[in-house]
Amino acid sequence: MGPGDLDRALCGLCVKPNPNVIIGFERGEDAGVYRISDDLAIVQTVDFFTPIVDDPRTFGRIAAANALSDIYAMGAEPICALNIAAFPAGKLDISILNAIFVGGLEKLEEAGVALLGGHTVDDKEIKYGLAVTGVAKPGEIVFNSGARVGDVLVITKPIGTGIISTAQKVDEAPEESLVEAVRWMETLNAGAARAMKIVGVHAATDVTGFGLIGHLAEMTIASGAGAKLYLDRIPLMSNVLELANEGMVPGGTRRNQKFREHMLELDGDMEAVWLDVLFDPQTSGGLLIAVAPEKADELLKALDREGAHGWVIGEIVDGRRISVGRG
Ligand code: CO
Ligand code: CO
Repeated sequence: MGPGDLDRALCGLCVKPNPNVIIGFERGEDAGVYRISDDLAIVQTVDFFTPIVDDPRTFGRIAAANALSDIYAMGAEPICALNIAAFPAGKLDISILNAIFVGGLEKLEEAGVALLGGHTVDDKEIKYGLAVTGVAKPGEIVFNSGARVGDVLVITKPIGTGIISTAQKVDEAPEESLVEAVRWMETLNAGAARAMKIVGVHAATDVTGFGLIGHLAEMTIASGAGAKLYLDRIPLMSNVLELANEGMVPGGTRRNQKFREHMLELDGDMEAVWLDVLFDPQTSGGLLIAVAPEKADELLKALDREGAHGWVIGEIVDGRRISVGRG
């Protein structure tokens, strides 16, 4: 499932209530949750998009890591998946599609997820992604609505994939930024999900199309709280501020910003370019986790042990607003 402006068209759809639906599309959660029995729920999500890198196998890896992420964000374990693809069969060599699938499969195997099949349609533009099914105990699912005042906010990947991808489209992305962005986008959120399950956290989501503040806002609204972000501690990929300053800002950023600007309280000396960063749409971004303050250190250590990363970037506060400032 996923954050995108068009996904909002689902809102207002009228469906008959089903007692086994624990999380349906009405709630802004990362994936849907369906109860099979008292100790088993399936968690489902689908995500696919057009290539954001030139190399088809790399694109496959990124798309798969991205599709799996919503399962990890719910604290569930992905078990099986289906490919979804669109391909201009008459125009491009089929080996390109094959390379995309190979990349996707690499990530599924790394995640221990079985590929059960898929479907490809003839289309003008390449698109690829997956529908993923995960499992969890109903009581162990991590919602984005559970954040509590005083919680520490931890993010598990740096920000900047939208800005770097935009720069790449006009050949303005420095090689080091590109390499870094690809490496993060390919990285599974599996280790981060394991760490948060070991420690026990209050809330989690993954940072994707709405940008850091967009997804934080979904969490704070669902949790009935506000948040404070520490500008100096937000991890960024290389050259992201410079590229944003040069106008390498994807179209979605302004929409993201417009949608949430009424909630913002900005530090007076924050440079305007920071808004482009804080609302930068991420592909395969990190998990954003709200954890009790006394467990924050334990979470950072667990992330490290599980081969993931973690940065403390803020806290959950009283109120309804998101304030951004230094220190
Ligand atoms: Co999604
Ligand atoms: Co998500």
